[in-house]
Amino acid sequence: MFNFDKNKIMNHLIAPSLLSADFGNLRHDIEIVNKSEADWFHLDVMDGVFVPNISFGIPVISAIKRDAKKPLDVHLMIVHPERYIRDFKKAGADILSVHYEAVTHLDRTIHAIKQEGMKAGVVLNPHTSIMLLENIITEVDLVLIMSVNPGFGGQAFIENSYAKIQQLKELMIKKGSKALIEVDGGVNLNNAPKLVKSGADVLVAGNAVFKSNDVLKTIHSLKNY
Ligand code: DX5
Ligand code: ZN
Repeated sequence: MFNFDKNKIMNHLIAPSLLSADFGNLRHDIEIVNKSEADWFHLDVMDGVFVPNISFGIPVISAIKRDAKKPLDVHLMIVHPERYIRDFKKAGADILSVHYEAVTHLDRTIHAIKQEGMKAGVVLNPHTSIMLLENIITEVDLVLIMSVNPGFGGQAFIENSYAKIQQLKELMIKKGSKALIEVDGGVNLNNAPKLVKSGADVLVAGNAVFKSNDVLKTIHSLKNY
């Protein structure tokens, strides 16, 4: 599998979000990410119910898997994500993250994701308290902090996210959790250093990467600022 050990990750990881890629020319953008210093592909699945937008689903992820040479980090912004765990595994997901706000039986869902051989993540909306993770933090492989309200790329970063990362770090130390901390939404070259300093292990970036003049160079700069 891929390197998921917090102690062995030397540098923070970069996960470009294909939501901001050119959907008419997806293979081109996948190849660029393959060639780049990026670590994962971040794939945003939206159902028009949990979030007010519809993106793409299982067949598109299967198509991406054919060309992608790096792990697929799948972020589910859908209701009842527990119904589709096996389908996302079959499509090629390596990491599967579900929203805290979308799942009633989170412990069961996290274990079902792991049972399928994927890494399991939980995602928190900007208003959702870190303290709600107290009884699940030792079970998850990853916590994704939303630094915008989910649904769209290109939104402004919410400043309170730094404090949430720090609170999460404190909770993880207290509970002995080795989960990776991922941040998603409005991440760019200006806020990346402070995010990593606050404790982020993985930075997701959509617009900052794919709307830049030089995608390879932007990924390089996010990785090596
Ligand atoms: C938003 C998605 C993000 C989005 C980030 O709901 O979860 O992954 O693609 O895009 P940027 O980096 O443009 O805010
Ligand atoms: Zn996302």
